Parts: sequence; C-alpha cells; structure tokens
Amino acid sequence: MKALVVYESMFGNTRTVAEAVADGLRAHLDSELVEVGAAPATLPPDVDLLVVGAPTHAFGLSSAATRRSAADRGPDLISRETGVREWLEDLPLAPGVRAATFDTRVGSGRLTGSAAKRAARRLRRLGLDLSPGRRSFWVTGTTGPLEAGQEQRARAWGSELGAAVTSRPAIGPDAVR
Ligand SMILES: Cc1cc2nc3c(=O)[nH]c(=O)nc-3n(C[C@H](O)[C@H](O)[C@H](O)COP(=O)(O)O)c2cc1C
Repeated sequence: MKALVVYESMFGNTRTVAEAVADGLRAHLDSELVEVGAAPATLPPDVDLLVVGAPTHAFGLSSAATRRSAADRGPDLISRETGVREWLEDLPLAPGVRAATFDTRVGSGRLTGSAAKRAARRLRRLGLDLSPGRRSFWVTGTTGPLEAGQEQRARAWGSELGAAVTSRPAIGPDAVR
C-alpha cells in the first residue's frame, strides 16, 4: 500500500511536520513526500492514502496575495509559486481514495481558521473519503519555530494513519467490486 504526502510551506515548519508524518506512515506502508509545486496533476492509481498539509493563511489556504505577504517576512520561501489551493483547484475527481489533511497554525488560540479544514472540504467535493481525519500542528509565530513536541505528535499521527488505512479496506469503488 502507498501513501502520498503533499505539502506546502513558506518557512519550513509545515515541511518539518510533513516529513515527520511521512516518516510515521512508513512504519505501515510506502510513503512518498512531495512539495506541492512538484505534486502530480492527477493522483497516481496506486495511492491508497493522500495526506495534504499547508500553513494556515488568513484563516484558510494560502493565495498568491498571502504568499507575497509571507515573502516580506523571509525571501527564501519554499512554496513561493503555487499552493495547495491551486493544486486542489485543478485536481480531478478521485472517488473513494482516502485522504487526511493537516495544517500549521499559530498556537494559543490567538488566531483561528484552519487550512486543513479548507483542504478537506475541497477533497470531499472531489469524492475522496476524509474519514482518516485532520490535525493542526502549532507554531510559536509566523516564521516558526514549531512548538515543542509537534514533530513527535506528527510522527505519531502518521503512524496512526498508516495503521488505520492498512487495517481497514477502502470504502471506494474498488472495495465493492
Ligand atoms: C500571510 C500570512 C497569514 C497568516 N494567517 C494566519 C491565520 O489566519 N491563522 C493562523 O493561525 N496563522 C496564520 N499565519 C501563520 C502561519 O500559519 C505560519 O506562518 C505557518 O504555520 C508557518 O508554517 P510554514 O513555515 O510552513 O509556512 C499566517 C502567516 C502568514 C505569512
């Protein structure tokens, strides 16, 4: 079985979380990690679990405008050109494929909104099965770093996802054939 982890990141925090999630998944299945600018336009047919992660910008997914604003905080952005929002806009339907989403956000409840929630909504419209769930991971400020323990949380969540996906057959069209 195979998982594909697609992430967007400006300053590296979401990438660190994505790496840890991919690592946790590897305890149970093959797991490939890819930055959103290099993500495939169509989901490869051998993907059993798609995991999508992005930083929360303006209460949701980044846009060209929020990425420009991020560039004012640090010129060497990882996902400068495109984000999860644009990738999901062009992704074709993928009925029954299981998916999980995560985001990074500023902790302590100072700001709200969740990129993971927005990404999940879009994936659901594309027919994916979002039952594996979603998570938020906390940063201490706009450019990071991550709060203590977040990398470990991410690795544990990846492992949990991997265990859930490998122990339960998909509900999609393949499962009812
Ligand atoms: C333009 C911009 C808007 C942001 N808006 C929010 C927000 O609405 N809520 C929030 O919790 N964090 C917000 N943040 C903080 C980001 O979530 C934080 O920069 C991100 O988690 C860092 O991850 P990264 O290093 O992978 O980009 C914003 C950051 C930027 C640059």
